[in-house]
Amino acid sequence: MEIRKINFQRHGDDRGMLVALEENKEIPFKIKRVYYIYDTKKEVRRGLHAHKSLEQILICVHGSCMITLDNGNEKGTVLLDNPYEGIYVPNNMWREMHDFSEDAVLLVLASDFYREEDYIRDYNIFLKNIEEENS
Ligand code: TYD
Repeated sequence: MEIRKINFQRHGDDRGMLVALEENKEIPFKIKRVYYIYDTKKEVRRGLHAHKSLEQILICVHGSCMITLDNGNEKGTVLLDNPYEGIYVPNNMWREMHDFSEDAVLLVLASDFYREEDYIRDYNIFLKNIEEENS
């Protein structure tokens, strides 16, 4: 599966760079929550879940990390290593974040508040849900 990166517009001048993200413009949903992951230990894999309805944009604003997405049929992996690129992660998509550089800061923009009920944490249940949707 090809994972397309979104290239955000950069506003650069001789002072440096700026990226601005607005809901329903660069971000294809209303942003209800922002969180970030940092100080991630080497060898760690995070995520390992899907969401029933949550949509997210992932941006590695510092350092680098790998993102693996799995739609139940196909998998793809992409390197996020600059602050002006992001990836869109729709609902019903298994995600794993891994190979974080020591200085990595992964920023996540989310379409909803934190709700444990929205998580699918069991990979077999995730696959079963996808099968049911396709049948
Ligand atoms: P976790 O779901 O394990 O993160 P990841 O998907 O990156 O592996 O979340 C770690 C902890 O943080 C867990 O106790 C739940 C809490 N948390 C919140 O309170 N709010 C949030 O928005 C998120 C994403 C996590």
